[in-house]
Amino acid sequence: MSTDRKLNPVNLPAGIEAEYTPGGALILDGKLCAKLLREEVRLEAQHLTDVVGRSPGLAVIQVGEDPASSIYVNNKKRACEAANIRSFSYHLSEDATLKDVLDLIESINNTPEVDGILVQLPLPKHISEQLVINAIDPGKDVDCFHPLNVAALFGRNQKFLPCTPAGVMEILRRYRIDVAGKKALVIGRSNIVGKPMALLLLAANATVTVAHSKTVDLSSACRNADIVVVAAGQPGLVGADDFNERAVVIDVGINRVGRKVVGDVDFKSVADKVAAITPVPGGVGPMTIAMLLRNTLTAFKEHNDL
Ligand code: GUN
Repeated sequence: MSTDRKLNPVNLPAGIEAEYTPGGALILDGKLCAKLLREEVRLEAQHLTDVVGRSPGLAVIQVGEDPASSIYVNNKKRACEAANIRSFSYHLSEDATLKDVLDLIESINNTPEVDGILVQLPLPKHISEQLVINAIDPGKDVDCFHPLNVAALFGRNQKFLPCTPAGVMEILRRYRIDVAGKKALVIGRSNIVGKPMALLLLAANATVTVAHSKTVDLSSACRNADIVVVAAGQPGLVGADDFNERAVVIDVGINRVGRKVVGDVDFKSVADKVAAITPVPGGVGPMTIAMLLRNTLTAFKEHNDL
């Protein structure tokens, strides 16, 4: 391995040490970053619960029986309880109507003990996701999906940060990976990850390119980038030959292949080539939940003028 490839971050925060794959890539341990962040939230939530006289509260709404959603929802509920955040669960059946969901949201919007509302996506096909998102009180929209919160993000005066993209930025920050002036490539243009990811990287002064399924010559765009965030939802779209050896690779993919969960990037082969990489599982995924907890705490503080 050439020595200029190796990343040696200095001044890592307490609790984080630089660890490398056998091939020499710095492992960006999102699970560890998330553990540290969850502990910060837990301590602050505990302290503020004593100040205010109630805990922060997060309502989680699931509609239908999508098995992956059930796992995510349970993980979110468990993470809340461990972080001194009260969770309120609502599970509507697959045949619930749009009105059922909107009525439930209205009632939770008016529940003072609930600071944050999360409607797990995807929703059943007969329910408009946009109408549901629009119904959430923007002050409780801890996913940062409501149009007013998206506009605030655009204007850089947001209260809430979109959880997955903010989780990526937090991993980069904790591993002291500079973003300013870097060429960042985001692969994927979803409303949940790709688009807000590009905004956060731009706000951090990266030069940002967004690639998607119609991009011509993705490989050379990728080889040209210093930081690549892969959020395509498609394993194997880019491989080891598509990265340069100084690349920092952030894999947002969560794909079930048989009984295994894999990212969009083949960790083993790419880690032999690049400078830093997030594993899957244990990379961005845990940070998404940690950011949700932080947004819930932010909402709680806002609701209590703290
Ligand atoms: N489904 C997949 N990712 C997310 C997310 O970040 N928030 C919600 N509400 N649903 C999701």
